[in-house]
Amino acid sequence: IPVDPFDLVIFGGTGDLARRKILPALFRRFCSGQMEDESRIIGAARSDLTRDEFRQIVAEAIAEFNTSKDCETGTVEAFLERIDYVNVDAKGEDGWKELSDLMIPGRVRAFYFSVAPSLFGPLAERLHAHGMADADSRIVVEKPFGRDLETARALNATLAQHFDESQIYRIDHYLGKETVQNLMAVRFGNMLFEPLWNSQYVDHIQITVAETVGVGGRGEYYDRSGAMRDMVQNHLMQLLCLIAMEPPAKFDPDAVRDEKLKVIRALDDVEPANIVRGQYGATKGAQDYAHDVENPRATSESFIAMRVNISNWRWAGTPFYLRTGKKLKARSSEIAVIFKETPHSIFGAEAGRHRNILTIRLQPNEGMDLDVTIKEPGPGGMRLIDVPLDMTFAEALGPEGEDVPDAYERLIMDVIRGNQTLFMRGDEVEAAWAWTDPIIEGWETRGDRPVSYEPGSSGPEDALVLIHRDGRRWREIRS
Ligand code: BG6
Repeated sequence: IPVDPFDLVIFGGTGDLARRKILPALFRRFCSGQMEDESRIIGAARSDLTRDEFRQIVAEAIAEFNTSKDCETGTVEAFLERIDYVNVDAKGEDGWKELSDLMIPGRVRAFYFSVAPSLFGPLAERLHAHGMADADSRIVVEKPFGRDLETARALNATLAQHFDESQIYRIDHYLGKETVQNLMAVRFGNMLFEPLWNSQYVDHIQITVAETVGVGGRGEYYDRSGAMRDMVQNHLMQLLCLIAMEPPAKFDPDAVRDEKLKVIRALDDVEPANIVRGQYGATKGAQDYAHDVENPRATSESFIAMRVNISNWRWAGTPFYLRTGKKLKARSSEIAVIFKETPHSIFGAEAGRHRNILTIRLQPNEGMDLDVTIKEPGPGGMRLIDVPLDMTFAEALGPEGEDVPDAYERLIMDVIRGNQTLFMRGDEVEAAWAWTDPIIEGWETRGDRPVSYEPGSSGPEDALVLIHRDGRRWREIRS
Protein backbone atom coordinates (compact mmCIF):
# COMPACT_ATOMS: atom_id res chain seq x y z
CA ILE A 1 0.00 0.00 0.00
CA PRO A 2 1.55 3.33 -1.00
CA VAL A 3 2.20 5.76 1.81
CA ASP A 4 1.19 9.41 1.56
CA PRO A 5 3.72 11.64 -0.23
CA PHE A 6 6.55 12.54 2.11
CA ASP A 7 9.86 14.35 2.30
CA LEU A 8 12.74 12.48 3.88
CA VAL A 9 15.83 14.52 4.64
CA ILE A 10 18.92 12.45 5.34
CA PHE A 11 21.56 14.34 7.30
CA GLY A 12 24.78 12.52 6.60
CA GLY A 13 23.31 11.55 3.23
CA THR A 14 26.73 10.78 1.75
CA GLY A 15 27.86 8.69 4.74
CA ASP A 16 28.37 5.00 5.13
CA LEU A 17 25.03 4.13 6.71
CA ALA A 18 23.11 6.13 4.11
CA ARG A 19 24.90 4.41 1.25
CA ARG A 20 24.84 0.90 2.67
CA LYS A 21 21.41 0.81 4.26
CA ILE A 22 19.11 3.81 4.05
CA LEU A 23 19.24 4.58 0.33
CA PRO A 24 19.06 0.95 -0.87
CA ALA A 25 16.15 0.37 1.53
CA LEU A 26 14.29 3.36 0.11
CA PHE A 27 15.00 2.14 -3.38
CA ARG A 28 13.45 -1.23 -2.61
CA ARG A 29 10.36 0.41 -1.18
CA PHE A 30 10.20 2.55 -4.30
CA CYS A 31 10.43 -0.56 -6.49
CA SER A 32 7.61 -2.19 -4.64
CA GLY A 33 5.38 0.79 -5.34
CA GLN A 34 5.23 2.15 -1.81
CA MET A 35 6.53 5.61 -2.63
CA GLU A 36 4.17 7.97 -4.42
CA ASP A 37 5.70 9.95 -7.27
CA GLU A 38 5.64 13.21 -5.34
CA SER A 39 7.73 11.87 -2.47
CA ARG A 40 11.25 13.21 -2.18
CA ILE A 41 14.49 12.14 -0.59
CA ILE A 42 16.79 15.00 0.19
CA GLY A 43 20.42 14.36 1.00
CA ALA A 44 21.91 16.92 3.37
CA ALA A 45 25.60 16.96 4.16
CA ARG A 46 28.67 19.14 4.46
CA SER A 47 30.07 18.20 1.04
CA ASP A 48 29.61 20.82 -1.61
CA LEU A 49 27.81 18.67 -4.18
CA THR A 50 25.36 19.40 -6.94
CA ARG A 51 22.11 17.48 -7.10
CA ASP A 52 23.49 15.44 -10.01
CA GLU A 53 26.65 14.57 -8.14
CA PHE A 54 24.58 13.34 -5.20
CA ARG A 55 22.33 11.36 -7.56
CA GLN A 56 25.48 9.71 -8.86
CA ILE A 57 26.41 8.70 -5.30
CA VAL A 58 22.93 7.29 -4.81
CA ALA A 59 23.11 5.35 -8.09
CA GLU A 60 26.46 3.86 -7.06
CA ALA A 61 25.13 2.94 -3.62
CA ILE A 62 22.20 1.11 -5.20
CA ALA A 63 24.47 -0.68 -7.66
CA GLU A 64 26.72 -1.82 -4.82
CA PHE A 65 24.31 -2.52 -1.98
CA ASN A 66 20.88 -3.31 -3.34
CA THR A 67 20.22 -7.02 -3.07
CA SER A 68 16.64 -7.09 -4.23
CA LYS A 69 15.81 -9.15 -7.25
CA ASP A 70 12.57 -7.47 -8.16
CA CYS A 71 13.84 -4.01 -9.05
CA GLU A 72 14.37 -3.38 -12.73
CA THR A 73 17.28 -1.38 -14.02
CA GLY A 74 14.95 1.25 -15.50
CA THR A 75 13.56 1.99 -12.07
CA VAL A 76 16.86 3.43 -10.85
CA GLU A 77 16.39 6.39 -13.19
CA ALA A 78 12.87 6.97 -11.93
CA PHE A 79 14.06 6.72 -8.33
CA LEU A 80 16.85 9.23 -8.92
CA GLU A 81 14.24 11.73 -10.07
CA ARG A 82 13.01 11.76 -6.47
CA ILE A 83 16.43 12.72 -5.11
CA ASP A 84 17.58 16.18 -4.20
CA TYR A 85 20.57 17.55 -2.30
CA VAL A 86 21.31 20.50 -0.03
CA ASN A 87 24.70 21.44 1.31
CA VAL A 88 24.07 22.01 5.02
CA ASP A 89 26.38 22.78 7.88
CA ALA A 90 24.99 21.13 11.02
CA LYS A 91 26.80 23.50 13.33
CA GLY A 92 26.67 26.66 11.25
CA GLU A 93 24.09 28.60 9.28
CA ASP A 94 24.94 27.45 5.76
CA GLY A 95 22.22 25.71 3.84
CA TRP A 96 19.39 25.93 6.39
CA LYS A 97 17.39 28.52 4.52
CA GLU A 98 17.62 26.49 1.28
CA LEU A 99 16.46 23.43 3.15
CA SER A 100 13.49 25.12 4.74
CA ASP A 101 12.51 26.68 1.40
CA LEU A 102 12.35 23.20 -0.06
CA MET A 103 9.82 21.97 2.50
CA ILE A 104 6.21 21.65 1.39
CA PRO A 105 3.79 22.61 4.17
CA GLY A 106 1.32 19.99 5.33
CA ARG A 107 3.14 16.88 4.21
CA VAL A 108 4.91 14.37 6.41
CA ARG A 109 8.54 15.17 6.75
CA ALA A 110 11.16 13.05 8.38
CA PHE A 111 14.66 14.13 9.28
CA TYR A 112 17.05 11.23 9.53
CA PHE A 113 20.07 11.95 11.75
CA SER A 114 22.60 9.62 10.16
CA VAL A 115 25.48 11.56 11.69
CA ALA A 116 27.78 11.48 14.72
CA PRO A 117 25.78 11.68 17.98
CA SER A 118 27.48 14.95 18.86
CA LEU A 119 25.45 16.52 16.03
CA PHE A 120 22.02 15.29 17.21
CA GLY A 121 21.55 18.29 19.49
CA PRO A 122 22.76 20.96 17.02
CA LEU A 123 20.57 19.49 14.25
CA ALA A 124 17.46 19.50 16.44
CA GLU A 125 18.17 23.10 17.41
CA ARG A 126 18.67 24.27 13.82
CA LEU A 127 15.53 22.50 12.63
CA HIS A 128 13.60 24.30 15.32
CA ALA A 129 15.22 27.66 14.62
CA HIS A 130 14.34 27.39 10.93
CA GLY A 131 10.72 26.48 11.49
CA MET A 132 11.05 22.82 10.56
CA ALA A 133 10.17 21.35 13.94
CA ASP A 134 6.40 21.60 13.57
CA ALA A 135 3.70 18.96 14.00
CA ASP A 136 4.37 17.44 10.56
CA SER A 137 7.99 16.69 11.41
CA ARG A 138 9.62 13.58 12.80
CA ILE A 139 13.23 12.90 13.58
CA VAL A 140 14.99 9.58 13.26
CA VAL A 141 17.96 9.00 15.51
CA GLU A 142 20.54 6.27 15.04
CA LYS A 143 22.49 4.53 17.74
CA PRO A 144 24.57 5.03 19.78
CA PHE A 145 21.99 6.87 21.83
CA GLY A 146 24.36 8.11 24.50
CA ARG A 147 27.21 6.14 26.02
CA ASP A 148 25.77 5.92 29.53
CA LEU A 149 22.73 7.00 31.49
CA GLU A 150 23.92 10.55 31.94
CA THR A 151 24.63 11.23 28.27
CA ALA A 152 21.42 9.48 27.18
CA ARG A 153 19.42 11.63 29.60
CA ALA A 154 21.09 14.77 28.33
CA LEU A 155 20.36 13.78 24.75
CA ASN A 156 16.72 13.00 25.53
CA ALA A 157 16.45 16.39 27.25
CA THR A 158 17.95 18.24 24.27
CA LEU A 159 15.68 16.55 21.76
CA ALA A 160 12.68 17.12 24.03
CA GLN A 161 13.25 20.87 23.88
CA HIS A 162 12.23 20.88 20.25
CA PHE A 163 10.34 17.67 19.59
CA ASP A 164 7.61 15.78 21.35
CA GLU A 165 8.36 12.13 22.25
CA SER A 166 5.78 11.11 19.63
CA GLN A 167 8.00 12.74 16.97
CA ILE A 168 11.22 11.00 17.98
CA TYR A 169 12.10 7.66 16.35
CA ARG A 170 15.10 6.01 18.01
CA ILE A 171 16.25 3.24 15.74
CA ASP A 172 17.38 -0.16 16.87
CA HIS A 173 17.60 -1.94 13.55
CA TYR A 174 17.17 -5.33 15.23
CA LEU A 175 13.53 -4.44 15.81
CA GLY A 176 13.06 -4.08 12.07
CA LYS A 177 14.33 -7.56 11.33
CA GLU A 178 11.57 -9.74 10.00
CA THR A 179 12.25 -12.63 12.39
CA VAL A 180 12.38 -10.35 15.40
CA GLN A 181 8.88 -9.20 14.63
CA ASN A 182 7.99 -12.81 14.14
CA LEU A 183 8.96 -13.42 17.70
CA MET A 184 5.93 -11.44 18.76
CA ALA A 185 3.75 -13.19 16.20
CA VAL A 186 4.88 -16.58 17.48
CA ARG A 187 4.40 -15.72 21.12
CA PHE A 188 1.14 -13.87 20.91
CA GLY A 189 -0.46 -15.35 17.81
CA ASN A 190 -0.38 -18.97 18.96
CA MET A 191 -2.04 -20.75 21.84
CA LEU A 192 0.70 -23.34 21.93
CA PHE A 193 3.60 -21.46 23.49
CA GLU A 194 2.39 -18.80 25.86
CA PRO A 195 1.05 -21.14 28.59
CA LEU A 196 4.51 -22.73 28.80
CA TRP A 197 6.41 -19.47 28.56
CA ASN A 198 7.56 -19.15 32.15
CA SER A 199 9.97 -20.49 34.72
CA GLN A 200 7.77 -23.44 35.51
CA TYR A 201 8.39 -24.94 32.07
CA VAL A 202 11.40 -23.12 30.67
CA ASP A 203 14.78 -24.24 31.98
CA HIS A 204 16.74 -21.39 30.46
CA ILE A 205 16.98 -19.16 27.40
CA GLN A 206 20.01 -18.46 25.23
CA ILE A 207 20.39 -15.43 23.02
CA THR A 208 23.34 -15.53 20.65
CA VAL A 209 24.40 -12.92 18.13
CA ALA A 210 27.61 -14.21 16.57
CA GLU A 211 29.47 -12.40 13.82
CA THR A 212 32.42 -13.48 11.70
CA VAL A 213 33.56 -9.95 10.92
CA GLY A 214 36.11 -8.10 13.05
CA VAL A 215 35.85 -4.43 13.94
CA GLY A 216 36.69 -3.50 10.35
CA GLY A 217 37.29 0.17 9.71
CA ARG A 218 35.31 1.21 12.80
CA GLY A 219 38.13 0.70 15.29
CA GLU A 220 37.98 4.09 16.89
CA TYR A 221 34.25 4.02 17.57
CA TYR A 222 34.29 0.37 18.54
CA ASP A 223 37.07 0.62 21.07
CA ARG A 224 35.21 3.38 22.87
CA SER A 225 32.15 1.14 23.05
CA GLY A 226 33.00 -2.53 23.22
CA ALA A 227 30.41 -5.24 22.73
CA MET A 228 28.48 -4.18 25.82
CA ARG A 229 27.64 -0.74 24.49
CA ASP A 230 27.66 -1.70 20.82
CA MET A 231 25.41 -4.77 21.01
CA VAL A 232 24.13 -5.69 24.48
CA GLN A 233 22.69 -2.39 25.71
CA ASN A 234 20.57 -2.16 22.56
CA HIS A 235 20.15 -5.16 20.25
CA LEU A 236 20.43 -8.00 22.75
CA MET A 237 18.43 -6.06 25.30
CA GLN A 238 15.62 -5.62 22.78
CA LEU A 239 15.61 -9.32 21.99
CA LEU A 240 15.56 -10.12 25.68
CA CYS A 241 12.60 -7.78 26.17
CA LEU A 242 10.56 -9.30 23.37
CA ILE A 243 11.22 -12.81 24.62
CA ALA A 244 10.51 -12.03 28.24
CA MET A 245 7.80 -9.36 28.26
CA GLU A 246 4.21 -9.89 29.36
CA PRO A 247 1.64 -9.92 26.56
CA PRO A 248 0.77 -6.30 25.78
CA ALA A 249 -2.98 -5.66 25.64
CA LYS A 250 -2.62 -4.54 22.04
CA PHE A 251 0.02 -4.19 19.42
CA ASP A 252 0.39 -0.47 19.78
CA PRO A 253 3.51 1.58 20.51
CA ASP A 254 3.02 2.41 24.15
CA ALA A 255 1.43 -0.89 25.11
CA VAL A 256 4.44 -2.78 23.71
CA ARG A 257 7.04 -0.38 25.05
CA ASP A 258 5.50 -0.31 28.53
CA GLU A 259 5.93 -4.08 28.72
CA LYS A 260 9.51 -3.97 27.46
CA LEU A 261 10.37 -1.32 30.00
CA LYS A 262 9.08 -3.52 32.83
CA VAL A 263 11.45 -6.28 31.77
CA ILE A 264 14.47 -3.97 31.82
CA ARG A 265 13.49 -2.68 35.23
CA ALA A 266 13.18 -6.22 36.56
CA LEU A 267 16.72 -7.20 35.55
CA ASP A 268 19.01 -8.06 38.43
CA ASP A 269 22.42 -6.48 38.69
CA VAL A 270 24.97 -8.80 37.15
CA GLU A 271 27.77 -10.10 39.39
CA PRO A 272 31.25 -10.01 37.81
CA ALA A 273 31.38 -13.80 38.11
CA ASN A 274 28.48 -14.00 35.67
CA ILE A 275 30.19 -12.11 32.87
CA VAL A 276 33.00 -13.11 30.54
CA ARG A 277 34.64 -10.61 28.25
CA GLY A 278 36.93 -11.50 25.40
CA GLN A 279 39.13 -9.93 22.77
CA TYR A 280 40.04 -11.75 19.59
CA GLY A 281 43.67 -12.64 19.10
CA ALA A 282 45.72 -12.74 15.91
CA THR A 283 45.69 -15.45 13.28
CA LYS A 284 47.80 -16.05 10.26
CA GLY A 285 47.32 -13.05 8.01
CA ALA A 286 45.01 -11.20 10.42
CA GLN A 287 45.87 -8.94 13.29
CA ASP A 288 44.48 -9.07 16.78
CA TYR A 289 41.88 -6.75 18.27
CA ALA A 290 44.36 -4.24 19.70
CA HIS A 291 45.95 -3.79 16.27
CA ASP A 292 42.57 -3.50 14.57
CA VAL A 293 41.55 -0.67 16.87
CA GLU A 294 45.08 0.80 16.83
CA ASN A 295 45.29 0.85 20.60
CA PRO A 296 47.90 -1.44 22.20
CA ARG A 297 46.29 -0.94 25.60
CA ALA A 298 42.74 -1.55 24.39
CA THR A 299 40.55 -2.79 27.22
CA SER A 300 37.22 -3.03 25.42
CA GLU A 301 35.67 -6.39 24.66
CA SER A 302 34.87 -7.80 21.23
CA PHE A 303 33.04 -10.69 22.89
CA ILE A 304 30.79 -10.89 25.87
CA ALA A 305 28.84 -13.69 27.51
CA MET A 306 26.67 -13.21 30.54
CA ARG A 307 24.09 -14.81 32.73
CA VAL A 308 21.16 -12.55 33.42
CA ASN A 309 18.26 -12.98 35.82
CA ILE A 310 14.88 -11.34 35.58
CA SER A 311 13.31 -10.96 38.99
CA ASN A 312 9.61 -11.23 38.38
CA TRP A 313 6.89 -13.86 38.78
CA ARG A 314 7.26 -15.19 35.28
CA TRP A 315 11.01 -15.62 35.16
CA ALA A 316 12.49 -15.95 38.64
CA GLY A 317 14.64 -19.07 38.52
CA THR A 318 15.06 -19.18 34.71
CA PRO A 319 18.41 -17.73 33.69
CA PHE A 320 18.96 -15.96 30.38
CA TYR A 321 22.38 -16.50 28.84
CA LEU A 322 23.43 -13.80 26.41
CA ARG A 323 26.40 -13.99 24.10
CA THR A 324 27.70 -11.85 21.27
CA GLY A 325 31.04 -11.41 19.61
CA LYS A 326 33.09 -10.60 16.55
CA LYS A 327 35.33 -13.01 14.62
CA LEU A 328 33.48 -16.06 15.82
CA LYS A 329 33.17 -19.29 13.91
CA ALA A 330 29.96 -18.44 12.05
CA ARG A 331 27.52 -15.61 11.46
CA SER A 332 24.55 -16.79 13.36
CA SER A 333 21.95 -15.12 15.51
CA GLU A 334 19.37 -17.11 17.34
CA ILE A 335 17.21 -17.29 20.40
CA ALA A 336 16.77 -20.71 21.95
CA VAL A 337 14.13 -21.49 24.53
CA ILE A 338 15.17 -24.64 26.30
CA PHE A 339 12.26 -26.28 28.07
CA LYS A 340 12.56 -28.41 31.17
CA GLU A 341 12.71 -32.17 31.09
CA THR A 342 9.53 -34.12 31.66
CA PRO A 343 8.96 -34.56 35.40
CA HIS A 344 9.23 -38.32 35.09
CA SER A 345 10.40 -40.66 32.38
CA ILE A 346 8.10 -43.63 31.87
CA PHE A 347 10.59 -45.15 29.43
CA GLY A 348 13.29 -45.84 31.96
CA ALA A 349 16.86 -44.69 32.28
CA GLU A 350 18.09 -46.06 28.95
CA ALA A 351 15.66 -43.82 27.02
CA GLY A 352 17.72 -40.87 28.23
CA ARG A 353 16.53 -37.45 29.24
CA HIS A 354 15.17 -35.15 26.56
CA ARG A 355 14.12 -31.58 26.24
CA ASN A 356 12.06 -29.57 23.83
CA ILE A 357 13.94 -26.63 22.37
CA LEU A 358 12.33 -23.84 20.41
CA THR A 359 14.91 -22.07 18.29
CA ILE A 360 14.18 -18.83 16.53
CA ARG A 361 16.86 -18.21 13.91
CA LEU A 362 17.19 -14.51 13.28
CA GLN A 363 19.85 -14.77 10.60
CA PRO A 364 20.94 -16.24 8.33
CA ASN A 365 18.51 -18.92 7.20
CA GLU A 366 15.61 -17.23 9.00
CA GLY A 367 13.13 -19.56 10.56
CA MET A 368 12.24 -21.59 13.60
CA ASP A 369 12.55 -25.12 14.76
CA LEU A 370 11.07 -26.99 17.59
CA ASP A 371 12.92 -30.05 18.79
CA VAL A 372 10.48 -32.75 19.78
CA THR A 373 11.20 -36.14 21.21
CA ILE A 374 9.98 -39.19 19.31
CA LYS A 375 10.62 -42.88 19.21
CA GLU A 376 13.65 -43.93 17.26
CA PRO A 377 12.35 -45.91 14.31
CA GLY A 378 13.04 -49.65 14.32
CA PRO A 379 12.30 -52.72 16.36
CA GLY A 380 14.85 -52.00 19.09
CA GLY A 381 12.48 -51.08 21.92
CA MET A 382 11.47 -47.67 23.17
CA ARG A 383 14.51 -45.56 22.41
CA LEU A 384 13.93 -41.86 22.16
CA ILE A 385 15.49 -39.31 19.84
CA ASP A 386 15.04 -35.57 19.33
CA VAL A 387 14.07 -34.37 15.87
CA PRO A 388 13.44 -30.82 14.73
CA LEU A 389 10.12 -29.67 13.38
CA ASP A 390 11.81 -27.31 10.98
CA MET A 391 10.17 -24.21 9.63
CA THR A 392 12.65 -22.44 7.44
CA PHE A 393 10.71 -19.45 6.19
CA ALA A 394 12.24 -19.60 2.72
CA GLU A 395 10.85 -23.13 2.35
CA ALA A 396 7.61 -22.70 4.20
CA LEU A 397 6.59 -19.43 2.57
CA GLY A 398 8.03 -19.87 -0.92
CA PRO A 399 9.44 -16.82 -2.73
CA GLU A 400 7.95 -14.47 -0.16
CA GLY A 401 9.93 -16.12 2.60
CA GLU A 402 13.09 -15.95 0.55
CA ASP A 403 13.18 -12.27 -0.24
CA VAL A 404 13.44 -11.09 3.36
CA PRO A 405 13.17 -7.30 3.47
CA ASP A 406 15.97 -5.42 5.14
CA ALA A 407 15.22 -4.07 8.60
CA TYR A 408 15.60 -0.49 7.39
CA GLU A 409 12.84 -0.86 4.80
CA ARG A 410 10.28 -1.62 7.44
CA LEU A 411 11.57 0.95 9.91
CA ILE A 412 11.75 3.89 7.50
CA MET A 413 8.24 3.22 6.27
CA ASP A 414 7.03 3.03 9.87
CA VAL A 415 8.48 6.50 10.44
CA ILE A 416 6.52 7.81 7.48
CA ARG A 417 3.33 6.06 8.64
CA GLY A 418 3.88 7.44 12.13
CA ASN A 419 4.09 4.05 13.85
CA GLN A 420 6.51 4.01 16.79
CA THR A 421 5.99 0.40 17.91
CA LEU A 422 9.37 -0.77 16.64
CA PHE A 423 11.30 2.21 17.99
CA MET A 424 12.76 2.75 21.43
CA ARG A 425 11.13 5.17 23.77
CA GLY A 426 13.33 7.55 25.75
CA ASP A 427 12.64 5.90 29.12
CA GLU A 428 13.46 2.48 27.67
CA VAL A 429 16.88 3.62 26.49
CA GLU A 430 17.57 5.22 29.84
CA ALA A 431 16.53 2.10 31.74
CA ALA A 432 18.84 0.00 29.59
CA TRP A 433 21.76 2.31 30.38
CA ALA A 434 20.85 2.32 34.07
CA TRP A 435 21.33 -1.44 34.04
CA THR A 436 24.50 -1.36 31.91
CA ASP A 437 26.31 1.48 33.68
CA PRO A 438 27.23 -0.27 36.96
CA ILE A 439 28.56 -3.26 35.03
CA ILE A 440 30.88 -1.11 32.94
CA GLU A 441 31.85 1.02 35.94
CA GLY A 442 32.78 -2.17 37.80
CA TRP A 443 35.19 -3.17 35.02
CA GLU A 444 36.74 0.25 35.05
CA THR A 445 37.16 0.45 38.81
CA ARG A 446 38.60 -3.02 39.12
CA GLY A 447 40.72 -2.63 35.97
CA ASP A 448 39.26 -5.84 34.51
CA ARG A 449 40.64 -6.87 31.17
CA PRO A 450 39.06 -9.12 28.58
CA VAL A 451 40.61 -12.54 28.01
CA SER A 452 41.91 -13.51 24.60
CA TYR A 453 40.08 -15.89 22.25
CA GLU A 454 40.97 -17.49 19.03
CA PRO A 455 39.39 -15.97 15.91
CA GLY A 456 37.04 -18.46 14.29
CA SER A 457 36.23 -20.09 17.63
CA SER A 458 33.10 -19.91 19.79
CA GLY A 459 34.73 -17.36 22.08
CA PRO A 460 36.88 -17.73 25.19
CA GLU A 461 37.02 -20.93 27.24
CA ASP A 462 35.75 -18.98 30.24
CA ALA A 463 32.45 -18.48 28.46
CA LEU A 464 32.03 -22.23 28.29
CA VAL A 465 32.76 -22.48 31.98
CA LEU A 466 30.19 -19.77 32.73
CA ILE A 467 27.38 -21.99 31.54
CA HIS A 468 28.90 -25.42 32.38
CA ARG A 469 29.00 -24.32 35.97
CA ASP A 470 25.21 -24.36 35.91
CA GLY A 471 25.14 -27.82 34.34
CA ARG A 472 24.17 -26.44 30.94
CA ARG A 473 25.91 -25.86 27.63
CA TRP A 474 25.86 -23.32 24.86
CA ARG A 475 24.22 -24.16 21.60
CA GLU A 476 26.62 -24.72 18.77
CA ILE A 477 27.36 -21.58 16.74
CA ARG A 478 26.74 -22.55 13.11
CA SER A 479 25.17 -20.91 10.13
C1 BG6 B 1 25.49 -2.67 14.67
C2 BG6 B 1 26.79 -2.76 15.40
O1 BG6 B 1 24.54 -1.96 15.41
O2 BG6 B 1 25.01 -3.98 14.43
C3 BG6 B 1 27.80 -3.58 14.63
O3 BG6 B 1 27.29 -1.46 15.62
C4 BG6 B 1 27.23 -4.92 14.27
O4 BG6 B 1 29.00 -3.73 15.36
C5 BG6 B 1 25.85 -4.78 13.63
O5 BG6 B 1 28.11 -5.56 13.37
C6 BG6 B 1 25.18 -6.12 13.43
O6 BG6 B 1 24.02 -5.96 12.67
P1 BG6 B 1 23.49 -7.13 11.75
O7 BG6 B 1 22.20 -6.59 11.21
O8 BG6 B 1 24.51 -7.39 10.71
O9 BG6 B 1 23.29 -8.30 12.66
